[in-house]
Amino acid sequence: MKVLICDATDPKALQLIEAAGIEVVNQPDITPEELLQVIPDYPCMVVRSRTKVTRAVLDAGTSLKAVVRAGVGLDNIDVAYAKEKGVQVLNTPTASTQSVAELTVAYMMALARNIPQMTASMKAGKWEKKTFLGSEISGKTLGLIGSGRIGLAVADRAIALGMTVIAFDPYVSELPKVTLMDLDELLSKADYISLHVPHTDETHNILNPEAFEKMKAGVRIINCGRGGTIDEEALYQAIQDGKVAGAALDVYAEEPLSDKKLYSLDQVIGSPHIGAGTREAKERVGQEAAQKVIETQLG
Ligand SMILES: NC(=O)c1ccc[n+]([C@@H]2O[C@H](COP(=O)([O-])OP(=O)(O)OC[C@H]3O[C@@H](n4cnc5c(N)ncnc54)[C@H](O)[C@@H]3O)[C@@H](O)[C@H]2O)c1
Repeated sequence: MKVLICDATDPKALQLIEAAGIEVVNQPDITPEELLQVIPDYPCMVVRSRTKVTRAVLDAGTSLKAVVRAGVGLDNIDVAYAKEKGVQVLNTPTASTQSVAELTVAYMMALARNIPQMTASMKAGKWEKKTFLGSEISGKTLGLIGSGRIGLAVADRAIALGMTVIAFDPYVSELPKVTLMDLDELLSKADYISLHVPHTDETHNILNPEAFEKMKAGVRIINCGRGGTIDEEALYQAIQDGKVAGAALDVYAEEPLSDKKLYSLDQVIGSPHIGAGTREAKERVGQEAAQKVIETQLG
């Protein structure tokens, strides 16, 4: 039994798989062309987000029984075709929940107090005590679009910080401590809007020009969910118009980000899709992925 590791994976995870008696072939930089050449030999492969498990890879993988995604989103895997071919697709959905929730809360604080902008000003040798008037998040309303694992972990933290939490999630019928409502009502009530939905046909540009129009003036937006859920041109315009006071982005319609227009605005802060980028989450992702490999390979 052997497994092909296609992207950089926690070394402890590889040791766990080997300890179970499965041969590990570690090719963290494998190219798409090399993958097509070698995949026929493997019953199992592990990917993060770099490697794309396309229809061509699934067709070439004549021995393939399982694809393990060390992470949450499955955007880099043709899941429907894998299902058709009888190839199991497994992920590690809970491993990064806390890390993403903590980054979201950090962004709310950073937006409320202009922390990145103040740091830049200090580094430039300035002492701008009057420029950066902040606001409190306590007493404010957080609107969650998507109230699954991460949305709820954010809700718990926001409630502990004195916020009221409301949510739009048509697939959830009841939540303790969070008031569910339709999207228009949420847009009109929220001081902070945070997205925690997958990118689907329904959520594509869910924050579009019409949605921005319905928001309160001075609203702040956070996206640590998935790119493609915010119309980035509409966000740019809403910031220029003064409707949106600030935005914190970890994910983008196109990654790596090539259009730097949003980042030309002082009100935009962000990161390069590192919501799950903590030591703890990486270890947990590796361990859960190893467990999935062992379960599928040893039955
Ligand atoms: N930034 C990062 O590094 C990072 C890391 C991990 C996860 N994520 C992303 O965060 C998102 C949330 O992850 P999760 O673990 O909470 O997933 P989850 O499946 O637990 O929750 C997603 C929620 O979105 C809801 N939803 C689906 N379609 C919707 C719609 N049209 N309108 C409103 N709600 C809708 C679902 O009902 C569900 O409750 C995912 O897209 C995931 O890929 C990002």
